[in-house]
Amino acid sequence: MRSWFSFFLLALITILGVTNVNAEYTGTDCNPLNKTCSADPALGTEHTWLFNSTLDSELWDMRTGTLDYTSEGADFSIKTENASTLLVSNFYIFFGVMEAHVKMAKGAGIISSVVLQSDDLDEIDWEWVGYNTSGVQSNFFGKGNTTTSDRGGYHAVSNADTEFHNYTSYWDRDRLEWWIDGDLVRTVNYSEPLTVYGKNYPQTPCQVKVSNWPVGIMGQSQGNLDWGGGLVDWSDVPFTMTVSKIRVQDFSSGKEYKYTGRTGTYDSIEVVSGNSTAITQINKKPAKTLSQKWDDLGQGAHIGVYCGAAVAGALLIGIFVFYCLKQRRDGRLQRALNDDVAFFYIRAQRHGHGDSEST
Ligand SMILES: *[C@@H]1O[C@H](CO)[C@@H](O)[C@H](O)[C@H]1NC(C)=O
Ligand SMILES: *[C@@H]1O[C@H](CO)[C@@H](O)[C@H](O)[C@H]1NC(C)=O
Ligand SMILES: *[C@@H]1O[C@H](CO)[C@@H](O)[C@H](O)[C@H]1NC(C)=O
Ligand SMILES: *[C@@H]1O[C@H](CO)[C@@H](O)[C@H](O)[C@H]1NC(C)=O
Ligand SMILES: *[C@@H]1O[C@H](CO)[C@@H](O)[C@H](O)[C@H]1NC(C)=O
Ligand SMILES: *[C@@H]1O[C@H](CO)[C@@H](O)[C@H](O)[C@H]1NC(C)=O
Ligand SMILES: *[C@@H]1O[C@H](CO)[C@@H](O)[C@H](O)[C@H]1NC(C)=O
Ligand SMILES: *[C@@H]1O[C@H](CO)[C@@H](O)[C@H](O)[C@H]1NC(C)=O
Repeated sequence: MRSWFSFFLLALITILGVTNVNAEYTGTDCNPLNKTCSADPALGTEHTWLFNSTLDSELWDMRTGTLDYTSEGADFSIKTENASTLLVSNFYIFFGVMEAHVKMAKGAGIISSVVLQSDDLDEIDWEWVGYNTSGVQSNFFGKGNTTTSDRGGYHAVSNADTEFHNYTSYWDRDRLEWWIDGDLVRTVNYSEPLTVYGKNYPQTPCQVKVSNWPVGIMGQSQGNLDWGGGLVDWSDVPFTMTVSKIRVQDFSSGKEYKYTGRTGTYDSIEVVSGNSTAITQINKKPAKTLSQKWDDLGQGAHIGVYCGAAVAGALLIGIFVFYCLKQRRDGRLQRALNDDVAFFYIRAQRHGHGDSEST
């Protein structure tokens, strides 16, 4: 994770008077507005990932920390001072829907988040500040522009830390929507003052990023500390956010998405046609277990295997019986031999050639 560097950058930025920046996500591997970057692999479909069993590492990248799987979902836990947990999809969507079912982490200074973010730092956020378990914040950024922090939305949610709720972001060319449990709670249009009339509207291919991270640590700006509800009390670890499932729908279909210029506008994005590797990976049959392979054999084969096993068993019993009988015979012979040895020994003793005085 680039977060330490990010925190440092953030400290600098905030000295200049900005607050409430999402420190976890200020970095990008390659910003296509400044250089030539490789194309973004597309999702190109819709899929729901259940988080109660191991995620496919071809599709999801654990950047920091580890996930703990339970029957209800994956725990993103902060277990030690300054630790964080960040999961990033290897696929991108170019407009679409992200539906996350989440229980936020509770604790001052702790931020749970599920965001869509692009290589040039367009961003669509759900963020839960750990001191307030009755709310969630919506936010967005365009091209990493953090000049102002007036785009946040505040929405009531009951027991956000102990109950899963359905947090869905809908994103197309015309508008952004945030939905909670089926209710539309916020809309941002492509062209309005908050988006700088479209210029800062999120419009480039985004990855899904899920994280639980501490903003409440020394070195953060006062603005960020206030936002997060103060310093983290590290004696309260672990801080756990749980995700039960995430549905992602890509409104574009293709193999990958390419920036063809440096404007960061949606019309500069080329959709390269073909099947996405994500679709291939999703459709790949999981490796079969032994019992599944057995089931696949069919009844005829099962009977054959049982008969074979019976024959093998009978053979084994036969061999065993033969071995026992042989042992018994050998045993008798051995006893006889032993008797003979004793006989000769005793005789030797009697004749004074023994080297032992006993017997
Ligand atoms: C990348 O480009 C953007 C827009 O062209 C600019 O605002 C930003 O400072 C550049 N970032 C770097 C690291 O050069
Ligand atoms: C995961 O959750 C789904 C849906 O709730 C359930 O059907 C499935 O059995 C669970 N799997 C595990 C491994 O717990
Ligand atoms: C928590 O967030 C909700 C929604 O923004 C808000 O109504 C409530 O006042 C907040 N509670 C605290 C303690 O800040
Ligand atoms: C960044 O955002 C500010 C405030 O919304 C706006 O005035 C400014 O023009 C934006 N900068 C760019 C490069 O879009
Ligand atoms: C979650 O909310 C979205 C938006 O309202 C809705 O389309 C979706 O069906 C909901 N999911 C579930 C599992 O209810
Ligand atoms: C967004 O656009 C719709 C019409 O498409 C309009 O009714 C609504 O007032 C607009 N919202 C804002 C915040 O501009
Ligand atoms: C955690 O981060 C803070 C701020 O950078 C630092 O002062 C502290 O020593 C760190 N603690 C550990 C255990 O690394
Ligand atoms: C994409 O997948 C479909 C269905 O599996 C197949 O028919 C088609 O040839 C594939 N296209 C490419 C470009 O590989």
